[in-house]
Amino acid sequence: MIAVQTLSVAYGSGAKALDDITLSLAQGRRLAVLGESGSGKSTLAMAICGLLPTGARLSGHITFPSLNTPVLGRDIGVVFQDPGGSLNPVLTIGEQIAEVAVVHRGQSWREAEAHAARLLDRMGIPHPTEALRRHPHEFSGGQRQRIALAAALAADPVLLIADEPTSALDTVVQHAMVELLDSLVRERGLTLLFVTHDIALASMLADEVAILHAGHLMESGPVTQVFRTPTHAYTRALLAARLDLDTPLQHRLPEIGPNFTVVTPNG
Ligand SMILES: Nc1ncnc2c1ncn2[C@@H]1O[C@H](COP(=O)(O)OP(=O)(O)OP(=O)(O)O)[C@@H](O)[C@H]1O
Ligand SMILES: [Mg+2]
Repeated sequence: MIAVQTLSVAYGSGAKALDDITLSLAQGRRLAVLGESGSGKSTLAMAICGLLPTGARLSGHITFPSLNTPVLGRDIGVVFQDPGGSLNPVLTIGEQIAEVAVVHRGQSWREAEAHAARLLDRMGIPHPTEALRRHPHEFSGGQRQRIALAAALAADPVLLIADEPTSALDTVVQHAMVELLDSLVRERGLTLLFVTHDIALASMLADEVAILHAGHLMESGPVTQVFRTPTHAYTRALLAARLDLDTPLQHRLPEIGPNFTVVTPNG
């Protein structure tokens, strides 16, 4: 579905945000792009979508072997980290979702609105027909992210690209969003590329993982292989940091130094 070959990206005269990235994603697979802040995850996602800002310099190749000149919005759906970035505040959500179906599926507005209501219902938005007439600010952050997902899927794309689809949400809402994404990918047979800095999320949702660090691809492969037997020190450090954060304080092992002595309550 996606073939990225020797991709480098630099913004203006700055250092390279991506340096010589080669990776591919097969149809129907789910890839998590993982790495710390500033490692180039969004740059990779935006480059694949053709959404890099003007002034960004790109070299290398990005191709979609199974797609014939893909159109963003029709063949590729995109969800941004900040749902505000995907939704227009002055249009009703119905107009925004229906527009995708009008433009890319050639539906009439009436058909597209019915389609939008069905999608909102699938996304778990209550009273979907009335919801169509409301504006983005009238919904919670979690609901806005579901609405953005509905708009991204309104033209029935085969590929979904999601940049940190859950990072703006609290843990409970995050979990529901992951379940929704998982079932949508299954029922629609989507190929998924998603960006995250959350290892737990990657292991829940992805088949494959690509680890970025300072614009370099440190390693990539099936999730179980990379997480069980990380070959790169950076991946091991990332996994260890995750373990530290998740382990309750009282369960963490104290560091044992050279002068460590055992002190029992009775001396
Ligand atoms: N529009 C831009 N103009 C200039 N530099 C940019 C731009 N966007 C990103 N960069 C730089 O490119 C590098 C990679 O940024 P990118 O946004 O891809 O990282 P990221 O992994 O998505 O980080 P985060 O987890 O914080 O979202 C960073 O050094 C960043 O400062
Ligand atoms: Mg980012």
